[in-house]
Amino acid sequence: MQVRRCAVLVLEPRETIEFRFESLLQGGDGLVRDLAWYALAPHLDAPVRVDGRAQAWLGSLSPSRWHALEEGSAEAMLAAPLLAAGLVIAQDPADPVHAARDARLRQAHWHPLAAVLHAFSRWDGVDAVRNMKESETETAVQMRRTLGAPPAECARIEGSGPPQQLPRSPSGCFDDLLARRVTCRNFDTWQPLPLALFAQVLQRTFGSTAQQRVGEDLVFLKKNVPSGGGLHPIEAYLLVQHVEGVAPGIYHYQSDSHQIAPVGTDAVLDRGFVMEAVGQQHWFADAHVLVVLAPRFNRTFWKYRQHAKSYRVVAMEAGHLSQTLYLAATDAGLGAFITGAINEKHLERALGLDTIAEGVLAVCGFGWRAAQMTTTELDPAGVIWQAAAT
Ligand SMILES: Cc1cc2nc3c(=O)[nH]c(=O)nc-3n(C[C@H](O)[C@H](O)[C@H](O)COP(=O)(O)O)c2cc1C
Repeated sequence: MQVRRCAVLVLEPRETIEFRFESLLQGGDGLVRDLAWYALAPHLDAPVRVDGRAQAWLGSLSPSRWHALEEGSAEAMLAAPLLAAGLVIAQDPADPVHAARDARLRQAHWHPLAAVLHAFSRWDGVDAVRNMKESETETAVQMRRTLGAPPAECARIEGSGPPQQLPRSPSGCFDDLLARRVTCRNFDTWQPLPLALFAQVLQRTFGSTAQQRVGEDLVFLKKNVPSGGGLHPIEAYLLVQHVEGVAPGIYHYQSDSHQIAPVGTDAVLDRGFVMEAVGQQHWFADAHVLVVLAPRFNRTFWKYRQHAKSYRVVAMEAGHLSQTLYLAATDAGLGAFITGAINEKHLERALGLDTIAEGVLAVCGFGWRAAQMTTTELDPAGVIWQAAAT
């Protein structure tokens, strides 16, 4: 049998600590520590535990050149569990799933460390709210008590010379818009969002304003946000909950035509689906529209192949989109949010994403603000909530 190592694999020495009552009874501290090496291979769903011999053999196996494995040999015995786990790939595999994913990963041009980071930082079934409660970091006061003092809120660079005061600019309408951008955690679940406002926020944030055709199959879109290489890899999937003239459901926004197309999926957009998407943060699940920022990584990696910066660039683009969405929503008199505490795998499944080439980086949302603040927002100047009270 001809085999080779999977394309990307990083080994992590991991300590898992578990509480066991028996350890306490035996006079221990109740904590049982397990130290082991894990192979992190981004084409696989989970880390694979490997022993020292397997690790050494993996290190000697080329990921590019096929190696003949002699049937019944000691090497073949060592290889068998690694083949089953998908860390080693056979040229003619009995089960082609791992091989197919490994092949796709090779074609997607990920930087190896970025591929590992992305694959193993995705959540499934995480309840971010319960985690905050359990770790006693739910409120600012709790955080200070549990975590101690953070680094200072404003940096002063040691050894820098005397500061020079800069003139303050007079406040204009752009400053007013910026000041009204406050992350919204209180949405009005009664009032539907008019179609025109829904469309306006999408157009301003995700729509293309022009295009430059270089050839038959090479087109650069111009948008209101910058994008590394002008490639605009991030797609907007919409969880439409409460918009006039749009049936609740999951849609894809087509940035060149300014159309929304329903996503063919078995997923049902109900409260449970949205809560799971935003890690059980009920304050965001009320939004009229949630926008899943889902990059097609392979579009950016088409140009920036195995590039050390490319994943970072795509992640930064999600920030540009988010800020533009905040401002577009604020300008329309709406509230907006972004969250990174999301269950990406739940969304990937629902949207039918190819998780080698595509993924989910964040969820944004927008809609009417509620009349009352029930969940805390950061509005120390009272720009939103004082105004609402008067
Ligand atoms: C990338 C990113 C992720 C965030 N994730 C969350 C989140 O998971 N939950 C949440 O309530 N707010 C989240 N926020 C919002 C911040 O808490 C908020 O920006 C911060 O408190 C400052 O408030 P402001 O946006 O009103 O100025 C996130 C913000 C950013 C930029």
